[in-house]
Amino acid sequence: MAKVKTSFFCQNCGAQSPKWVGKCNSCGEWNTFVEEIVERESSGVASFLTGTGNQPKLLHEVSSENTEHIDTCNHELNRVLGGGLVPGSMVLIGGEPGIGKSTLVLQLALDLKNKKILYVSGEESIQQIKIRAQRLQKENQNCYFLSETSLEHILAQSKQVAPDLLVIDSIQTVSTESIESSPGSVGQIRECTNGILKYAKENNVPVILIGHITKEGSLAGPKVLEHIVDTVLQFEGENQYMYRILRAIKNRFGSTSELGIFEMGNSGLREVSNPSELLINRAHEGLSGTAIAAAIEGIRPLLIEIQALVSTAAYGTPQRSSTGFDLRRLNMLLAVLEKRAGFKLATKDVFLNIAGGIRVDDPAIDLTVITAILSSNFDLPIRKNVCFAGEVGLSGEIRAVNRLEQRIAEAEKLGFDSIFIPKAGKGINLQKFKIEILQFDRVELFFRHVFAKKS
Ligand code: TYD
Ligand code: MG
Repeated sequence: MAKVKTSFFCQNCGAQSPKWVGKCNSCGEWNTFVEEIVERESSGVASFLTGTGNQPKLLHEVSSENTEHIDTCNHELNRVLGGGLVPGSMVLIGGEPGIGKSTLVLQLALDLKNKKILYVSGEESIQQIKIRAQRLQKENQNCYFLSETSLEHILAQSKQVAPDLLVIDSIQTVSTESIESSPGSVGQIRECTNGILKYAKENNVPVILIGHITKEGSLAGPKVLEHIVDTVLQFEGENQYMYRILRAIKNRFGSTSELGIFEMGNSGLREVSNPSELLINRAHEGLSGTAIAAAIEGIRPLLIEIQALVSTAAYGTPQRSSTGFDLRRLNMLLAVLEKRAGFKLATKDVFLNIAGGIRVDDPAIDLTVITAILSSNFDLPIRKNVCFAGEVGLSGEIRAVNRLEQRIAEAEKLGFDSIFIPKAGKGINLQKFKIEILQFDRVELFFRHVFAKKS
């Protein structure tokens, strides 16, 4: 019998070591090395490299046939993919359990009516998929389903069916016989992904893989997977809320700053083409503690509602809590208000919430955050139909933000009367806008103009 060969693999980045080590030299993570059996070392990769014997070519000799993007019939998904699916490419969709990855991909498979699709699920039985499809109220005569976890069987079936799109839900459940470690281990994932990649490239078939997120929340399991695939999409959102954001983390065929927005409903995911109208609730206008920010997520302008509640702390240490906004940044902004503008907030509880359950990292919402906080603190409502865009610096200055014109245009489009912005730099043409534009460079001056008179 052949001697069993083992090696240690980092479960985070896939680095290999002949003996166990506590800290991975390659990614710096601790305690990630696990022993795995490698019978035939990197067999998949070796045959992939030697099998075809490709010759070097000049670009003009390369035919551009079959490089057209396949329309996914889903506008938001097309946008994130950079125009659609590229034949022969591999797309990884990662996300937390229950976020809607399977729903998204099943919807796509059922919507692509003129393409032959093979949907392989290692997680659900065919009956379960059928129940879900009935719930989505969709059907597709060209979509084949297979409940299978063995890589060899999956590839054999794909060769027989010869689909135009192969879907695998999820890569962590697939395993190959050529390696003895358990499904979901780094060795298995790398080997299976390479096997599928080889199939995809040889047959020019696009493949969508679904990947689990690791305990630590890093995207779709080990880094090895991210290196192999062409596109990595992350599906995110709060479980309690209905909004889901699909973000490109890596894309060899398009921009990574695009983002798609969906709404999870009773019959699946719905594309949201105008998110601003859904994320802001005009009924709240005129109430204290609510302000609207002209934000940018990715490259998309987005108007979002920020709510704050400031109340006197019942206990010694005031509470600060925020949803959708960085807590450290909130504390920093409170310190600026205290020190630079003289507002006494040190003994107050401050709660902050970004409506809709989305997370925003755009620094330009700072100005809206402090406005909402002061509005709640003094119980003064903000003027109607007003929104804000500006970053707040440590000395109380209102700093310039990127894509200012795009933000103003979005506010104007949605019928806002005024927008507060930082003093605009050169090269920004504000004349073309009809909306009232108010420019400030210090928070002290800004506050005097924001609040409506108490009636
Ligand atoms: P699922 O797509 O199975 O998520 P994942 O594959 O990422 O683990 O989960 C979908 C979740 O969405 C599930 O908790 C139920 C909910 N859902 C709806 O609200 N409406 C629907 O029509 C469907 C199919 C699911
Ligand atoms: Mg699933």
